[in-house]
Amino acid sequence: MEIIFLIGFMGSGKTTLGNQLAKTLNFKFIDTDQHIEQKNGATVTQLFAEKGEAFFRSEERELLRELKGSDNLIVATGGGLPCFSDNMALMNEMGITVYLETSEETLFDRLVLEMEDRPLLEGMGEYELKIFIREKLKERLPVYTCAEILLTEKQQNTMELIQRLPQTN
Ligand code: S3P
Repeated sequence: MEIIFLIGFMGSGKTTLGNQLAKTLNFKFIDTDQHIEQKNGATVTQLFAEKGEAFFRSEERELLRELKGSDNLIVATGGGLPCFSDNMALMNEMGITVYLETSEETLFDRLVLEMEDRPLLEGMGEYELKIFIREKLKERLPVYTCAEILLTEKQQNTMELIQRLPQTN
């Protein structure tokens, strides 16, 4: 089967669902953030601080290109990855894209607990986080909704996704 790309905002559960899906289908699994961290021997936060966001985005772009031709692979992408370069179009060419649609409220409840690991949220108070989620989501939505499959929050489980994959219909 082609590559399955999970896309969506930070905190939408791409890594969790991706891991579960890979185990269920016995596919390989890659989390783009983790892969870039391992390759560079630094956390995403360190890479943003020391090398800048542009470097991180070019690493994301390069990784995507390296995955061309892979199969039986699940990829959990960083929240910004689809929105840079021609990454979204490329993922749609390379495989099946799945958008994990998640409400602003759910994203807030999750992200407020784990802001330190995400450089874009560094130093924000709760009110700023709320506004950031609203504005960034609005900005990114036109890209996210180019995904082939959209899963609402209630549909974000492996069984639902497997049923929706084109090959299994
Ligand atoms: C980012 C999302 C993060 C990570 C980086 C930037 C973004 O990934 O790639 O902090 O631009 O939305 P997650 O979506 O896995 O948190």
